[in-house]
Amino acid sequence: MSVPIVRTIVELRAVVAGWRRSGASIAVVPTMGALHEGHLSLVRCALQKADRVIVTLFVNPKQFNNAADLAAYPRTENEDAAKLTPLGAHLLYVPNATEMYPDGFTTTVSVSGVSEGLCGAFRPGHFDGVATVVAKLFLQTGADFAFFGEKDFQQLLLIRRMVRDLDIPITIVPCPTVREADGLALSSRNLRLSPAERAVAPRLASVLRDTAEGLSNGSPVLPTLAEARAAILSAGYRQVEYLELRGEADLQPIASIDQPVRLLAAAWLGQTRLIDNIRTLPACQLPNESLRIPR
Ligand code: PAJ
Repeated sequence: MSVPIVRTIVELRAVVAGWRRSGASIAVVPTMGALHEGHLSLVRCALQKADRVIVTLFVNPKQFNNAADLAAYPRTENEDAAKLTPLGAHLLYVPNATEMYPDGFTTTVSVSGVSEGLCGAFRPGHFDGVATVVAKLFLQTGADFAFFGEKDFQQLLLIRRMVRDLDIPITIVPCPTVREADGLALSSRNLRLSPAERAVAPRLASVLRDTAEGLSNGSPVLPTLAEARAAILSAGYRQVEYLELRGEADLQPIASIDQPVRLLAAAWLGQTRLIDNIRTLPACQLPNESLRIPR
């Protein structure tokens, strides 16, 4: 049987109420569809943790900075459902824009601090859109657990902060970034790369890996970051939006590595903006996760 699909809050709540009566625990995996192995890894983790798993598919207009990007976003509901069915996901929730934002909708959830800088500096309004829709998805599903990828590390911390600040009774579970064999982090945007760009794309991950290793081994932060920027550009990326070292707990800028930190980057390859990040540990805590990016 293919995964059941509901499109309205009323239908969603009826299904969830039935599950609750039977004492089932519930997980939600929010997505914008065009599902790849990164998304599916979250669903697999969720199925291990909870009795029932809801995957949500909503291309959220409020988190897009420009109309062309929103219009170009892939919409592949049938293929997405076909990928979820063999996994055993229990429900696919696909609200439309009117269901999510009916006439007269005026509320915005805005999380300061963690949403500033990095992607927040280059995508004005983006994180308000994310926080608003994710808060709604949590309230609509009433799930006990929600699964998010470390690929979007700033988003993950923002959601954690929001849940704490608003006392939303849900546990946020982070999942590691899923990568191609050559290290490129999976993303629906990878489909937009030309073959030549696709060949260059993994250099972002490999530069992050090498830089994280160097920093862990005591290379000085500022010159090492400058070299990394230059390496990304010389590999063929057009622009590096940011390449920064931030505290892993709160994304505060840091000057030295005496705690687990994240090295985060966004860069343009042709017309495609790619992001990635990697954990960087003090030397005394190596071996670190950077080894997971293949050479
Ligand atoms: P989307 O880009 O579809 O991503 C949905 C979830 O999949 C996010 O938690 C994201 O971090 C995770 N993900 C994407 N690529 C991944 C990879 N290579 N490895 C592991 N996880 C990966 O993020 C969004 O949608 C939206 O902002 C959303 C949270 C749904 C709100 O609209």
